[in-house]
Amino acid sequence: METAREESAQGSEDDAAQEDATSVADVSVEVATVDATLNKLCRRYNRRRRRAKKIKKKNPILDLQNLAILITVVVFVIVVIMWSLLWVFIFRRESNSGVYFAGMFRVANVEFIPEYRHADSSEFVSMANRIQHVITSVYRTSSVSRLYKQTVISDLSNNNQGGVLVHFWMIFVVPHLKGPSVCEDCVSAILKDSVHMSLKNRSSVGFLQGLPVDIDSILVNVALRSDYSSTAVGSQCVDKLYAGVPDVSIPLNVFSSWGGLSCYIKLTSAPGSVIRLTVKSFRIDPSDCVYDALTVYDSLLPMRGMILFRFCEPVSAPISLVSTSNVMLLSFRLTQGNKIFQGLFQALMEEQCMNMIALPAGPGDAGVITSPFNPSLLPRQCSCTWMFQMPSSALGVALRFQNYMLKLKDLQNCEHGWWKVNEIIYCGNYVDHSTVFRIPAQNPEVVFRCSSRSAAQPFSATYSSYNTSQPCPEGHFLCSTGLCVEKFRRCDGLDDCQDESDEIFCSKPPKICESSSPLHPLYICNGEMDCSSGKDEINCTQETSCSGVSYQCGNGACILKKNAKCDGLPDCYDRSDEKDCACGNPTPSKRVSDSAATQQRIVGGINALEGEWPWQVSMHFSGQLYCGASALSDEWLISAAHCFSKERLADPRMWMAHLGMLNQGNAKHVAEIRRFVVHEYYNARNFDYDIALVQLKKAWPSSLAQYIQPICLPAPSQTFTEGHRCWVTGWGYRSEQDKVLPTVLQKAEVSIISQSECKRSYGAISPRMLCAGVPSGEQDACRGDSGGPLSCQAHSGGRWFLTGIVSWGSGCGRPNLPGVYTRVAKFIDWIQRHIQNL
Ligand code: ARG
Repeated sequence: METAREESAQGSEDDAAQEDATSVADVSVEVATVDATLNKLCRRYNRRRRRAKKIKKKNPILDLQNLAILITVVVFVIVVIMWSLLWVFIFRRESNSGVYFAGMFRVANVEFIPEYRHADSSEFVSMANRIQHVITSVYRTSSVSRLYKQTVISDLSNNNQGGVLVHFWMIFVVPHLKGPSVCEDCVSAILKDSVHMSLKNRSSVGFLQGLPVDIDSILVNVALRSDYSSTAVGSQCVDKLYAGVPDVSIPLNVFSSWGGLSCYIKLTSAPGSVIRLTVKSFRIDPSDCVYDALTVYDSLLPMRGMILFRFCEPVSAPISLVSTSNVMLLSFRLTQGNKIFQGLFQALMEEQCMNMIALPAGPGDAGVITSPFNPSLLPRQCSCTWMFQMPSSALGVALRFQNYMLKLKDLQNCEHGWWKVNEIIYCGNYVDHSTVFRIPAQNPEVVFRCSSRSAAQPFSATYSSYNTSQPCPEGHFLCSTGLCVEKFRRCDGLDDCQDESDEIFCSKPPKICESSSPLHPLYICNGEMDCSSGKDEINCTQETSCSGVSYQCGNGACILKKNAKCDGLPDCYDRSDEKDCACGNPTPSKRVSDSAATQQRIVGGINALEGEWPWQVSMHFSGQLYCGASALSDEWLISAAHCFSKERLADPRMWMAHLGMLNQGNAKHVAEIRRFVVHEYYNARNFDYDIALVQLKKAWPSSLAQYIQPICLPAPSQTFTEGHRCWVTGWGYRSEQDKVLPTVLQKAEVSIISQSECKRSYGAISPRMLCAGVPSGEQDACRGDSGGPLSCQAHSGGRWFLTGIVSWGSGCGRPNLPGVYTRVAKFIDWIQRHIQNL
């Protein structure tokens, strides 16, 4: 065919031509005789025809492809739309979270009107709108503008300093990753900075778009979303009460049926007054504030920085506390059950704590000074001044406190009261005994300021005059507690000074066995044969006057035998000394040979044996060993206060107690914790009163008695003299530099060190502390052992007593720096007060 020839002659002209060439390859060629024009036309026509034919042939395939493409595109578009919708409505919401802040400030120079008390009044709404607008514009122009969502004004109250106190919520919406960009400090700084920039003159009031805000009153705290929703306007669980007339008591009763979850009562009182809340009784299940609690705030919103007091334990004797200004918030969390709160509140006029006291010349107590609003708890903020006037320059003022002590201030802040006495600064601390503070000046001025973060114990002191040249009466000795004791009481083995200052640095009393004069009380009936005649250990069960060195029987009678408790012999007439002695009697199985045990050394320790220390407990915080403890009963453990006293460590839900364990991870029983009872006088600065009780949620099963057993508590009179050997146990580090904790429970033998020697090493050792170690330092406790036991036996084969609780030390295993333990014998009453039936 001509076309074919033509095309082959043309070579490759275009794609169509190529296609044609292949499709006609086998067609025979005829010679053409028509003219060129006709030929061209023909060629064109044929080409078109062929193309059309070809297209016709391909069509079904093309249709399918198109359809597929079309479907793919449609599906793709649908998926994209769905995904976007999903992202907008679900994921975007989830990946953003609301961060809630509760805040307050004082708007100065604005007159408070009673309508502001009602959030639905038009006056409230217009004032709230104005403030809301100002806060919003501050944050909208700040670095967190994109995250800021809204401000809600919750309360307007009158204020003792004048103006209106505003409480508000602020809500930020933050993508998860940006969390820290709305930190509490940043949010509060934004507001403070804006006020700061507008401060006029030298006052603390700045003008935020015309709103006079007192910069010193600004407080912003991170809050919980649940608090926001439960205190929101219109919430069923918010009550507002007002005390307009001072000194009139308004009853306040709350029953758990009232709401179940969190409910609030907002108290306000007339300006110039403060609010006193009296809790007469509060029936709840103690749970460390986890389940049932009453939190009292010094504000109208639940702000962390304004907590006045938390009631986590049932109250049976009345306790009262006072706010710093005329607002108070009660936040009740009561779980199901028969929970009852009974109390009252009243407005009190602010106390002007300023006193001029003229003392008479004669001896004896002249009067009493007390903390403000005593016996109410010490407020969070207060200031008192007492100006004394003495009749003669030879006299000074002696202040005798019940359970409080003044000490020269060091570099740290005062936690329980700041004192300025004649220009010298002291810090106050609570102690469990009386002290006397003497001021050798004729007209001293004493200034006291509250400095606790929340309400604390009240104090009182009797004042009297004293002779500055001779503080103690004739024949008396001056203790470092300020008390005066008769000279003959020095080194008599009894703690007359209440801080052992009369028993410190005494030479070892001579053992005068032959003479007719009485033997030193230290040697009498201490369980050791000090006189060869044995006269120091006879008639030990004879009744004697009760003192720190005698054993007190259940019927109140006292006997000479110091370590009568659970020694296997009935010593008391009523046999009470051998009652409740199912403790401290392990039955170790000697599965590990002693030679193998000595291989692995800790700070001078060796592997313990299975069942050897059945009272030893491992306390795990967030799944990690953090402290030790000892079992006292099937429900109670004892440990160190410092293990649980920081905020983050105080939540019992974060802890587990591993009992009956030799190797970490192989506990016979793992128990949840109900609550901690940390000693109320625990002092985080010097580790004084470093003791805490731990209550388990459930008692451990008695079938485990073979592996878990309580240790015996010592009697208050128990004495183990210097050199007595005891054991410290735990899974703590094996040296100061150690990075890996041992798996096997370690034990190390240490000797009791005298208080004088320990004071020589450390200086500040309180009577509640006890030292134990070895001179080389080779045997010691270390980090991780805290709270664990120092177990002592009166004699081999006898029962084991909890003589100490691992508390602190300088480093670990250093020569002449022994381990310091909490002296358990000093806390027997305290323990029994919290654990009845022990
Ligand atoms: N405080 C430590 C703890 O938390 C115990 C330190 C005991 N130190 C000593 N050298 N004994 O585990």
